[in-house]
Amino acid sequence: MPQQTTDSAPQQSTQAAPDQSPFSTAPESAVLAVVGLGYVGLPLAVAFGRRRKVIGFDINARRIAQLKRGEDHTGEVSGPDLAAAKHLTLTDDAAELAGATVYIVTVPTPVDEHQRPDLSP
Ligand SMILES: NC(=O)c1ccc[n+]([C@@H]2O[C@H](COP(=O)([O-])OP(=O)(O)OC[C@H]3O[C@@H](n4cnc5c(N)ncnc54)[C@H](O)[C@@H]3O)[C@@H](O)[C@H]2O)c1
Repeated sequence: MPQQTTDSAPQQSTQAAPDQSPFSTAPESAVLAVVGLGYVGLPLAVAFGRRRKVIGFDINARRIAQLKRGEDHTGEVSGPDLAAAKHLTLTDDAAELAGATVYIVTVPTPVDEHQRPDLSP
């Protein structure tokens, strides 16, 4: 015979609540955006872009044009390495960032007149 319970406390559900976080996308299907393709951002975008979809964004249109020609003036990434990043899209069009699910921001740190990092919001 089933046991009756008088305990009215809410029962803990063993079912996981739906994940509402921006990271609910399965890691393998996440689309990365790397914002700022300088010394730090470009090698990162190229490394990820060998294996998965990456949107590489920079506000500097000349930088994007150079990278599309396979040239990196920072010397961090070679032409063949850029070419090997088959899943990397290079753009200066901010609208394309809407297609990403994970954003990695690698833009310069703002500094004050004494060259100290300005970490204000
Ligand atoms: N370079 C290093 O060795 C190093 C080491 C540790 C930390 N960092 C940090 O990493 C960050 C990036 O440094 P970096 O050396 O790659 O800088 P960088 O100047 O080489 O590159 C920054 C890139 O960001 C682009 N950019 C600037 N504003 C932008 C915006 N609003 N949207 C999109 N793109 C924008 C620029 O056009 C440039 O191409 C900084 O915060 C820096 O402090 C750098």
